[in-house]
Formats: sequence, structure tokens, C-alpha cells
Amino acid sequence: MSELVEEPATRHQWPRPAEGSWTEHYPELGTSMMSFEDSVSPEFFELERNAIFRRAWLNVGRIEQLPRTGSYFTKEIEAVRTSIVVVRDHDGTVRAFHNVCRHRGNKLVWNEFPKAETSGVCRQFTCKYHGWRYGLDGSLSFVQQEDEFFDLDKAGLGLAAVHCEVWAGFIFVNLDDTPRQTLREFLGPMITDLEGYPFDKMTEWYEFTADNQSNWKLFADAFQEYYHVPGLHSQQVPSAVRTPGKGFECAHFQVDGPHRMVSTGGARRWTLPAEFMYPIERVTRSGLVGPWESPDIGEPPKGLNPGRIEPWGIDNFQIFPNIEILIYRGWYLLYRYWPTSYNTHRFEGMLCFQPARTVRERVEHEVASVVFKEFALQDAGMLTGTQTALESAYRTAGITRYPVNDQEILVRHFHKVVADWVEQYRTEAGAR
Ligand code: FES
Ligand SMILES: [Fe+2]
Repeated sequence: MSELVEEPATRHQWPRPAEGSWTEHYPELGTSMMSFEDSVSPEFFELERNAIFRRAWLNVGRIEQLPRTGSYFTKEIEAVRTSIVVVRDHDGTVRAFHNVCRHRGNKLVWNEFPKAETSGVCRQFTCKYHGWRYGLDGSLSFVQQEDEFFDLDKAGLGLAAVHCEVWAGFIFVNLDDTPRQTLREFLGPMITDLEGYPFDKMTEWYEFTADNQSNWKLFADAFQEYYHVPGLHSQQVPSAVRTPGKGFECAHFQVDGPHRMVSTGGARRWTLPAEFMYPIERVTRSGLVGPWESPDIGEPPKGLNPGRIEPWGIDNFQIFPNIEILIYRGWYLLYRYWPTSYNTHRFEGMLCFQPARTVRERVEHEVASVVFKEFALQDAGMLTGTQTALESAYRTAGITRYPVNDQEILVRHFHKVVADWVEQYRTEAGAR
């Protein structure tokens, strides 16, 4: 166990850019008021399906979900109107396929409800309709009454493969016919420099899903700026961690290609006055930011805390388009935002700890997950209001532009990247 270092609850100077604001260091972002029409337009969402979700690498799971040969899980990706099955083949290769039987198009892998995701272990996939079977490599291995077919090309009727690559144990798929970049190229150095963080050791998971009544980007926005924290989560963010006169300020922002990150720093939670904590947090020494003491993870990777903030709090990496990894020193949080229509999305949250070695550690993890859920609900509770008001603002009130401050730089960057990808798709589609 690492030593608990008591830090005074004082304000620290962050290494801000030498001059000007964070935003002004990225001139392509501009500083003008922003439109959020991309979050209220059904037409824009139809473009996002192909422009973003068919072209970007999408994280669908972790390698720990496929512990043995034949382990599989399915993933519904409504944004591209498909279901995929991800499986570990005999040689350990992780493969992904469209979840469609090649006989008459039945959904191949499902359990009780065709639309519900499922997982398990199998030697082969058997279609529930007429019993065709497929190997773990997707090849068609058995056809019922094969001799009744006409010139059946079995070799050409394997499952349709989906591009699939694994980085640091995160399984990504790409639904484009020919991905423009490898996964590594797509992730870029800001993300790949996280290699070496022991994601693979953090196998005690607490998972949540929520069907939210908002555009997928609006919830991502709520997790990529901390300007809202004193307002929405006021009880947990006392003045001790705010910059005098300025509210709450982040320590470091960085963007790299379509991806972005923010680091927080400041007073350690356990140094805060008791009134800013639930009694259970004090008793269990766990809560909002996880266990106060975490197993030592050794030398952190060079990509962690890139602004070299001390005392460092959280690194919050947003991998375009819809994943967020929040790294605390000894554990991490994963969010995914899966659009289901222009104004609804499915949110997945996952807290990942090293397996508890004692009852106390297990309680620390449970408390962290419960407090996380409360926090996420505070954010999620806003969403229906934001979505419905933004829609009325555009359609009825004639309000189309919104001011965005320096601490909301990542919101600005995110929506610009979305706009750029959609624009590029439009241009290429128009050129065809
Ligand atoms: S649809 Fe799958 S075996 Fe007929
Ligand atoms: Fe929040």
C-alpha cells in the first residue's frame, strides 16, 4: 500500500500557458459563440452515423471479457444499425463479425431477447433458425441437408468480418470497408503513451448502463469540463479546491488530433473539512475519487499526467468519438456514449479496480461505486432538461449561439471535430 500523503488544502499554481488562455493556444478552435445544432438535429445525426460511427475506431470492450478460447460477447451498435459478435479464436486472436447468419439473415448470436447483448463461451456458433454452424474464425462449418442446396459456395459464406484491433487490452472495431488508419495511428501519441498503465490488473469491475434522454454529445460534454462542478456538485467541491474568485480551475488541457484530455489537481480529498464528505466516506476512507489509498502501480507511464501537475488529481482522456477513460492513480473509470437516436443515447460506466485483497478494500470499492453513481445521476439528471430546452431554443425561441469559456475548451474541440468529420464525409459523398 502506498503511504497516505497529507497535503495542505491550499491553492496551487498550475502551469498555464505562458500567455493568454488555453483556447487561444488552439487558434483553429476560435473563441466565438458555439452552435449546438449538432445535438438537436435529426438530419445531422443521420450524417454522424456514416461520417463518424462507420469511420472511427470504436471501443466495444476489454480483453478480460474474452478470457478463453471461444469466449465471446455481442455488441449492439445502433448508430450504424448493426450488431457484432467479438470472439477469441483458437490462436488467441480477437475477431469481430457482423452478427448475421449467411443462410437467410437471422441474427446469429443472442440469448433470451434478440436485441439484448449477451456473452458466453462456445466451440462454434449455431444459428437458431436452421442450424447452420460457424467456427470461431467465422468460417461456415456445417449446413443442414447440404446436398439440397444448389452450387453452395460454403467457403464464400463465412461470417462477414469487421476490422478489429486491440490496444492496451481495449478491443476496438472499425466498420468502414477499409479503415483510413490503423488503430495505433488513429489513437496517436497522447493516447498510446498511456501504455504501461496496468489496465490489465484492474479486473474488479462495477458496471452501469443508463438510457438517457439526450444527444450522446451532451453527456460527453458534461464530463469534459469542470466548470459545472461548483454549481452542480456544490456539496462535494468546497472553496478549498476552488481558485479564489474563479470557481474551479483545471490544471492542464491538451488536444491531439480528434482526442483530448484534461488533468485536475488540488487538495487531496481526505484533507477537506468533514462537512464536504459523507460520513461513510470518512469511515471507509473511500468515495468520490475512489479509495484514499490504492495499491502501488509502480512507475506511471509517460503519458499519464502530461502537464506534470503536483498534486495531481485525475487524468480524463476522451478518445474520439465516444469513449472516456478517467485515470486515478490506482484505478480507472471508463465511459462510453452510444447514440440510439438524435436525442437519446445509452451510457455505459465502468469502475475498474485491482481485485480486493481484504474485506476493507472490497468495501472501499463498493463505496466508490455507489458515490460515483450518485455523481453520474447528478449529471444525468440535467440531460433531459438540456436536450428539450436546446431543441425549443432552436425551433421556437430563435436562440442558436452560446458562449463557451476557456475551461470549456474541450467542449469546443469535441464539437469542432464532429463537424469536421461530418463535413469531410459530406464532401466525399458529394464527390462520388
Ligand atoms: S437463417 Fe441461419 S440457418 Fe437459416
Ligand atoms: Fe459532473
